[in-house]
Amino acid sequence: MTTYTLRKGSPAKTRAELVVIGVARTSKGDLEACPGAEDVAGAYGRKFKPLLSAMGFRGDPGEVLRMPTGGTIAAGQVLVVGMGARDALTHEGVRRAAGVAARNIGNVASVSLALPAHDAEHVRAVAEGFLAGGYSFRRYKSRSDEAGVAAVSILSDAARRQDAITALEEAHAVGALVSRARDWVNTPPNDLTPELFADAVEALGKELTGRSHKPKVQVEVLGVEELQELGCGGILGVGQGSANGPRLVKLTWLPAEARASVAFVGKGITYDSGGLTIKPGSSMATMKYDMGGAAAVIAATFAIAELGLPVAVTTYAPMAENMVSGSSMRPGDVLTMYDGQTVEVTNTDAEGRLILADALAIAAVGDHDAVIDVATLTGPCIVALGEKVAGLFGDDETTDAIAAAAESSGEMLWRLPIPDESREAVRTESKIADLLQHNWVRWGSALFAAAFLAEFVGDKPWAHLDIAGPAYNGGAPWGHVPSGGTGYAISTLVAYAAALAGGPAEVVAPAEDVAPA
Ligand code: BES
Ligand code: MN
Ligand code: ZN
Repeated sequence: MTTYTLRKGSPAKTRAELVVIGVARTSKGDLEACPGAEDVAGAYGRKFKPLLSAMGFRGDPGEVLRMPTGGTIAAGQVLVVGMGARDALTHEGVRRAAGVAARNIGNVASVSLALPAHDAEHVRAVAEGFLAGGYSFRRYKSRSDEAGVAAVSILSDAARRQDAITALEEAHAVGALVSRARDWVNTPPNDLTPELFADAVEALGKELTGRSHKPKVQVEVLGVEELQELGCGGILGVGQGSANGPRLVKLTWLPAEARASVAFVGKGITYDSGGLTIKPGSSMATMKYDMGGAAAVIAATFAIAELGLPVAVTTYAPMAENMVSGSSMRPGDVLTMYDGQTVEVTNTDAEGRLILADALAIAAVGDHDAVIDVATLTGPCIVALGEKVAGLFGDDETTDAIAAAAESSGEMLWRLPIPDESREAVRTESKIADLLQHNWVRWGSALFAAAFLAEFVGDKPWAHLDIAGPAYNGGAPWGHVPSGGTGYAISTLVAYAAALAGGPAEVVAPAEDVAPA
């Protein structure tokens, strides 16, 4: 267990084993110690920049240099982290640098972070970045060699201010849920079937209790029979080929004085083989992460409850395994969805929209101000925007709010349109059913998928995030983003709820393990 403290004090005098400092580049190309690091640079005096230059340090984002201090400062080691251009330093830059630091501290028991943390929002960025960057998934490693850092102190002149203390507590609470979502995404599909995923969510609901020891978030799990009674033909159709039956998990956070009400919907395909429209082997290998949208909306709901945000949240996570068997849904089948609309299935690998259709239709009849869905929906969205940027669809007002939240959380997304021609195609191109699930036109498939979803939200304010790219990092870690499950969208959803609540909320239940000094 790592303990996080917020402390005022000089990084040159701290007795931690290692001190982290940031170094940026000025417009002239000189290296310069970032705010928070001045004392360390001062202790080295005129030797500071030549020393860094001699080691080839350029101050680029992602760059690190770890060296012994030889007694120049009290700590035995210093980790210098590149911050990029000084004049372009943002909260997200600080968050990423803290994440880079977390991955490069080596085997030390205590760390002091002397990154820019002069106010509450920078404290939040440092804490979020360090917590997120230090994540690793070791459940299936028989030999656990890492001892882990025991004590992390964030050095800040604002250390005694309540807003800074609160920022650290909130970062800690949200960070724990980001880690939980990443664990779910990383868990192999044999250990995270729809049933086991739903069980894990129920268990977490019981774990996160308030002062009265009652769960803050109510968790309900609907099984196959209940889905049949409700008429959820999409969830049932996708799930029918698997020995592991589908579920619909519903979460409710109902604060005493809610200032708004939102519904979240997340795609929870615990494994996507493609079904009878089977995927090639290479595309199938990482399809355990096809539940990343469900993991994100569930974690965000718990995080909003932990922060005590006065916004009511109702979350629907349809969960199914898309498999091949004698009972699989076929291309050609017609399904009747929750709202009574019929859908002609032409591609069993376009399963996400089918389970989302039922959940969106349920959410749309609720009394919510907006419906937000998050889904690893289409490979074509990755073709369009790459692996780090999500696609954002929906009406202007709702997408504006989500885009603003993403801006503050540092998550990258880009707006994509739902053209009238896609809506027309969904509505007119099935000869036998109300709607066509998929057309085999290669171009604009992410847009067609979004147009399909739009048929189930009516005229509700709605935004759809296609996170097929950023939900999972198949490459090397970068910034605060590890390999594997990323937890993408959680902090954007939390920021969105915080904005609806009218700014950062008071913490009703301080997270354990945080001991503000
Ligand atoms: N789960 C996939 C989307 C996906 C692809 C997520 C790659 C992450 C990485 C989804 O169910 C799917 O198979 N989509 C189809 C869309 C097509 C039918 C328009 C795809 O990507 O081929
Ligand atoms: Mn698929
Ligand atoms: Zn899928």
